[in-house]
Amino acid sequence: MITLAAASQKGGVAKTTTNLAIGAKLTQDGARVLYIDLDPQMNLSTTLKAATAGVASSLEVLTGEATIAGAAQLIDGYAVVPASRLNGKADDLMSSVGKDYRLRKALSAVADDYDFAILDTPPALGTLTVNALTASDWVVIPAQADAYSLDGVTDLAATIEAIREYTNPDLKIAGILLTRYNPRTSISRIIHEDAEAMAAELDTKVFRAWIREATVIKEAQAVKQPLFEYAPSAKVAYDYRFFIEELMEGVNG
Ligand SMILES: Nc1ncnc2c1ncn2[C@@H]1O[C@H](COP(=O)(O)OP(=O)(O)O)[C@@H](O)[C@H]1O
Ligand SMILES: [Mg+2]
Repeated sequence: MITLAAASQKGGVAKTTTNLAIGAKLTQDGARVLYIDLDPQMNLSTTLKAATAGVASSLEVLTGEATIAGAAQLIDGYAVVPASRLNGKADDLMSSVGKDYRLRKALSAVADDYDFAILDTPPALGTLTVNALTASDWVVIPAQADAYSLDGVTDLAATIEAIREYTNPDLKIAGILLTRYNPRTSISRIIHEDAEAMAAELDTKVFRAWIREATVIKEAQAVKQPLFEYAPSAKVAYDYRFFIEELMEGVNG
């Protein structure tokens, strides 16, 4: 099993959208995909049509009250462990020993059952994001192509450095993904250059693929359909397919 997370300490940069697309494409290609939603906002869970009331969630997985096998819901060919609104309290609810490793340990029990685990995190550094990065083989850094969003990359870079030092020396950065990008604007070009400079510093790359701003993204999420089913021939669907192929080239070596 390969564990991936599109993560950033900034909100609204298309973390969840990117995680959804990765899982949808891999499922379509026949892989066994497990999504785990850690974000108390539960965007990934609701878009994937997971039940969130009266069910075991990633919170119980973290506290040890549930296993991933017990909490996973099977929907449309993928499995999903939903988040709970109370995930923000995870830190207080977990006993302190081995806190950062809870998700990693839980995932190791299902390593033979899935080809990919995809982790969706909240836009903050805390136990949830530390658990996700400690459990991940690869992290994708989405950056919205606007003036402030590269700040999120700098913050995440410091976190990744700490994670590698203390909890997961093998964590690899797959690359920086420019999202909601409009190549025609001058700001986008500047951001692309800044992203290249940051990637060099992080010893990673900016993906050749970038994701354009497109309303079908929001529409597909509103009707709870994977982008590739809702609008298979939309340009942004091609953007995401191109990105996921590039990502998989790196992941599969
Ligand atoms: N390429 C895009 N074009 C237009 N809207 C987008 C695009 N990517 C994401 N969005 C929208 O932007 C908002 C934030 O995206 P989301 O994936 O939820 O970000 P995050 O998980 O980082 O907070 C959502 O409403 C989503 O539908
Ligand atoms: Mg999100």
